[in-house]
Amino acid sequence: MWVLILLIAVAIRDVFFNKRHTISHNFPIVGHLRYWLESIGPEMRQYFVANNREELPFNRIERGWIYASAKKENNYEGFGTDRDINEHGHIFINNAMMPYKVDKNHPHDIDKTFLPCAKVMGVHNKRKRPYRPASVINVSAMSFGSLSAKAIESLNKGVKIADAYHVTGEGGLSPYHSNGGDVVFHFGTGYFGVRAEDGGFSMEKMIKLVETNPFIRAIEIKLSQGAKPGKGGVLPGAKITKEIAEIRGVEIGKDVLSPPNHKAFSNVPEMVEFIEKIADATGLPVGIKAAIGKLEQWEELANLMAKTGKGPDFITVDGGEGGTGAAPPSFADHVSLPWVYGFSDLYKLFQSKGLSERIVFIGSGKLGFPAKAAMAFAMGADCINVAREAMMSIGCIQAQVCHTNRCPAGIATQSKWLQNGVDPTLKSERLAQYFKTFRKEFVEITHAAGHEHPCQFNMKDIEINVENRSKSSELNNTFKYEKTEVPFSGMQHLKDCMHLGGCK
Ligand SMILES: Cc1cc2nc3c(=O)[nH]c(=O)nc-3n(C[C@H](O)[C@H](O)[C@H](O)COP(=O)(O)O)c2cc1C
Repeated sequence: MWVLILLIAVAIRDVFFNKRHTISHNFPIVGHLRYWLESIGPEMRQYFVANNREELPFNRIERGWIYASAKKENNYEGFGTDRDINEHGHIFINNAMMPYKVDKNHPHDIDKTFLPCAKVMGVHNKRKRPYRPASVINVSAMSFGSLSAKAIESLNKGVKIADAYHVTGEGGLSPYHSNGGDVVFHFGTGYFGVRAEDGGFSMEKMIKLVETNPFIRAIEIKLSQGAKPGKGGVLPGAKITKEIAEIRGVEIGKDVLSPPNHKAFSNVPEMVEFIEKIADATGLPVGIKAAIGKLEQWEELANLMAKTGKGPDFITVDGGEGGTGAAPPSFADHVSLPWVYGFSDLYKLFQSKGLSERIVFIGSGKLGFPAKAAMAFAMGADCINVAREAMMSIGCIQAQVCHTNRCPAGIATQSKWLQNGVDPTLKSERLAQYFKTFRKEFVEITHAAGHEHPCQFNMKDIEINVENRSKSSELNNTFKYEKTEVPFSGMQHLKDCMHLGGCK
């Protein structure tokens, strides 16, 4: 009886008082089913309908590999590959007839996960505190605000265990970034954490920040990111708590939109001067992060660097396929080039000016898988940064609701209730284990190709299906350049380097 009364009430509301939804007006009661089914559609497709290799940004096999690696579970597959290895874009790594032989007492005989960067940031420009990242895989920029306090804490504790670094993201350095892991301080046009009264950049704050936080190993200036170049950061008001408002110096509950341009510089020469001033004042290597499209200003930068010997110590190239906490789909889908095209264009340009050796090239954009990383290294990358792969290692289920504050995994939300399910001690172990497993498999692939370190991968080591297997092509044919050889004198040399993990 009560159910009937309730249904009649809903029907009356649908027909006479509802002006917003035509379907529920025209089909009272049953019309609601449509909205409900639509709302659970993504989950239904993810769990029951989509096949293993179908979903984007990361398919079930990719997610499963990260989950299993992070939990140190069996991440192998049985019976052979389930991929169509003849499909367009498939990567092949050319294995050597006999793999690289690891001698007794070689660093890999002692620790198969030991894989530092083959280049040192800041050595060429003689910075006071050069930095050799102790891991080739690191956590990419994601701010406190976009991610929860518990997620940031898990990532920071995780990089400490894995000897990697953690890029802060645009939201400034929070207490959750200060759990012992190496940090790369990242800022964008909002200058959060180093913001002057007028909203511009404060060198005084920058110096103080670096002095009081010696675990900051380098500084990354964000020019743009693959998901929204030219857009500036967006943090929805729903995610701005009192604590975040205080750290960023903004109002509680109001959307924070960073402008597209920097106030501290407005052209390439000014940017180079800005980089040099920060490096001089802090002693740290300074780099830039950007998504690549047009090359004119990059060429101006390369010319200036070649002429003056100044400029960024590292360049992080983000692919158009990169992730974000929030961005308009028109930007995320269309603005800026995919990583392979953006990176190859940029690398070729800097190489043509003789600059490739002095810059540490970092890649980001779905590269957190050993075979993809091998391709990136063959093209000239020295390190990779991972964002969403790192999130998945600590429990992200790819619900794709980072922009709503309703992340069910407690990672991209400020809801205390949702965060309560995240145990930073356990999750930090998971991130560390994912990084270690990644490095171990990457080392094994490197050895299979006959090399000691992935920096020795060259364009002929990797082939890619241009159309089908009969038309596969080595990377040098596809992208029309050869990588400049990275000076490398053995893994032991890297292990003994005084700059490994920064000056302690
Ligand atoms: C939740 C989230 C927040 C992000 N925040 C930032 C940011 O503050 N600054 C930035 O430069 N990139 C940001 N990114 C982009 C990542 O740092 C990275 O460049 C991009 O996601 C590509 O890496 P991936 O494919 O491993 O995720 C963010 C990405 C995600 C998923």
